[in-house]
Amino acid sequence: MIGGIARTAWPLLRCIDPERAHELSLRALELGLHPRMAQADDTRLQRTLWDIAFPNPIGIAAGFDKDARVPDPLLRLGFGFVEVGTITPLPQSGNPKPRIFRLPDSEAVINRLGFNNSGHNAAIARLKARPTAGIVGVNIGANAKSEDRIGDYETGLDVFSDVADYIVVNISSPNTAQLRDLQAPDALDTLLTRLMVRREQLADAGRGRPPMVVKLAPDIAEADLPLIVERLLHHAVNGISVSNTTITRDTVANEPLASEAGGLSGAPLFDRATRMLARVYRLSGGDVPLIGIGGIDSGRRAVEKIAAGASLIQLYTGLTYAGPSLIDEIKLSLTAALKTRGLASVADLTGQDIDRWLEP
Ligand SMILES: Cc1cc2nc3c(=O)[nH]c(=O)nc-3n(C[C@H](O)[C@H](O)[C@H](O)COP(=O)(O)O)c2cc1C
Repeated sequence: MIGGIARTAWPLLRCIDPERAHELSLRALELGLHPRMAQADDTRLQRTLWDIAFPNPIGIAAGFDKDARVPDPLLRLGFGFVEVGTITPLPQSGNPKPRIFRLPDSEAVINRLGFNNSGHNAAIARLKARPTAGIVGVNIGANAKSEDRIGDYETGLDVFSDVADYIVVNISSPNTAQLRDLQAPDALDTLLTRLMVRREQLADAGRGRPPMVVKLAPDIAEADLPLIVERLLHHAVNGISVSNTTITRDTVANEPLASEAGGLSGAPLFDRATRMLARVYRLSGGDVPLIGIGGIDSGRRAVEKIAAGASLIQLYTGLTYAGPSLIDEIKLSLTAALKTRGLASVADLTGQDIDRWLEP
């Protein structure tokens, strides 16, 4: 019944201001007014990474639940894992509104939120109060006005190490000035040296040692990618997320809102992000788990993302257009793809089609 109401209400959300609609969907999730996964996941969808058994490889991407308000309702919706954040040490309000724009004809969104969030203290209190079951990653960032941005990431590790199943170092948001400069090889070296030292100190103090994932922008120049991946491997990161939103607009040039500043997500991002994913897979020799993100709006595209090199996938914009039934659709497409390709589990699908994405 509740599920029925939620299913009817979902398309209505698209008629109101996007930021208000988002807040309403968070509140509905907080109140339990959401559909629930009907049955346990097919065991062929299980994926074990970093000694964590993911019941399925489909996660909700960062930005949906910035303040860790609803990780458990999202898990009940059928996601295999939830990434909360981006969370910065201090609360901050982000950029002036309006700052989220729908491009409905392209099934895309442009956002320039700018890490609006309630800060570490609010999030850690919620995460400590939640049940330990269910996989929750924490995406950490730096305050816009911080004088020591790397210090902000270290603080993120200090605060979330013992509650996060994995940590994402988000250095790829286009909406905090100069944040993406941390992706440059020298800056990345400094950042990762400090974070890896801090992680070992925390582990020695019995505070946990979560896998560390770095989230990249899809706008990194092709020529710069090999050195960046080499640096990530050198520092032995445990995963790479590909990708965040893009500042390019070539795929939405005819959209009236295309000139709004911010990061573009959704269907028009799919090809760019998936090509980059396949390149990172090739450059890393398939040795590091990759989280494939960007433009997944159907079961078919989820299969393509995994076959292009993803061990796990995440989505956000596709969910706002298609609604929660997209999660079941993806699960069905994945099991169907395994059957068609004669594969035993979703792990075998990872990287099967990278050549297709690397052709000139
Ligand atoms: C409104 C909005 C807010 C976002 N906020 C964050 C964020 O705080 N941190 C982050 O790492 N990514 C953020 N993202 C990027 C998503 O996590 C994801 O990388 C991107 O949207 C591409 O996936 P999609 O096409 O499925 O939406 C945000 C995306 C949107 C649409």
